[in-house]
Amino acid sequence: MLAIPCLVSILALACSATPVPDLDPQPLEIEPKSEGRLEARQAANFGPRVHMGPTKSGADIIGLSTVFKPGYPPANPTKFLALWPGVWNPYSIKSDLVQSVISSHDQAYMTSFCGAKRGQWCLQPYVLSGWKPLTIQNGYAIDGSDEIEIIYEKATSGKGTWKQSLTNLSKGKKYPEYSAGSAAGTTFETGTEMQGSNRGSADTQVYRNLTLTLRVADPTFARTYSKDPKVVANAPVTPDGGKTWVFDQIEIPAMLPGTTFKPAN
Ligand SMILES: *[C@@H]1O[C@H](CO)[C@@H](O)[C@H](O)[C@H]1NC(C)=O
Ligand SMILES: *[C@@H]1O[C@H](CO)[C@@H](O)[C@H](O)[C@H]1NC(C)=O
Repeated sequence: MLAIPCLVSILALACSATPVPDLDPQPLEIEPKSEGRLEARQAANFGPRVHMGPTKSGADIIGLSTVFKPGYPPANPTKFLALWPGVWNPYSIKSDLVQSVISSHDQAYMTSFCGAKRGQWCLQPYVLSGWKPLTIQNGYAIDGSDEIEIIYEKATSGKGTWKQSLTNLSKGKKYPEYSAGSAAGTTFETGTEMQGSNRGSADTQVYRNLTLTLRVADPTFARTYSKDPKVVANAPVTPDGGKTWVFDQIEIPAMLPGTTFKPAN
């Protein structure tokens, strides 16, 4: 699924009109560090990020909620730039990477995939299930100034399916819920993902009130927190002995400041 021109796992479905050669699944070795694993999975480069997990206790993450403001995309987008909060298990190739994706691509792609005008993003719920992308046929156009509420919830019964709920808070618009994937996620990471000739984000991204919920409280979870020095965030706090963990705000800086789309007026 990872091939030019769609390149990415991400959005590969949306590119299905173009013939995309399959990539042979590569077994990922189990290692003590997750370094490099996301890159292998996504065939991508990544900007500054926040990482948390896996828990020392083995408890999995069963929920994530946040309000995300992507800022404006690059004025002249090239190939894929994808922003997302992700929950997954980096140690298992059968893992489901749950990631509501906000993406920018060249204009022809944006128009056909989500009807975005120049300076808008496409939003879509997405699960990378092993190497298989699961997503919707057409994304939703959003503005850089939109505040998007993103909620992931893992069902506590049945197979434990993941549900993604997306709402444009700026307009009170709720998008259809999307349920796919059921593998346990142990790790949280923010993605600023660059595919092909894309060289990075153009504006500040802000995650507000990012809350992770564990199945079982783990008071030591904060020890697994790390971030790029350029990211502005306080360490997460737990109000309840380690069951929920809250980042009040995460600010991810523009990689290419000055290249931002400038809205009229
Ligand atoms: C989200 O709300 C903003 C502000 O009202 C609006 O400009 C934008 O078009 C909305 N996006 C969608 C997809 O409704
Ligand atoms: C933060 O998110 C949590 C979980 O969704 C919610 O219960 C809480 O009210 C939110 N807090 C603020 C300040 O918005």
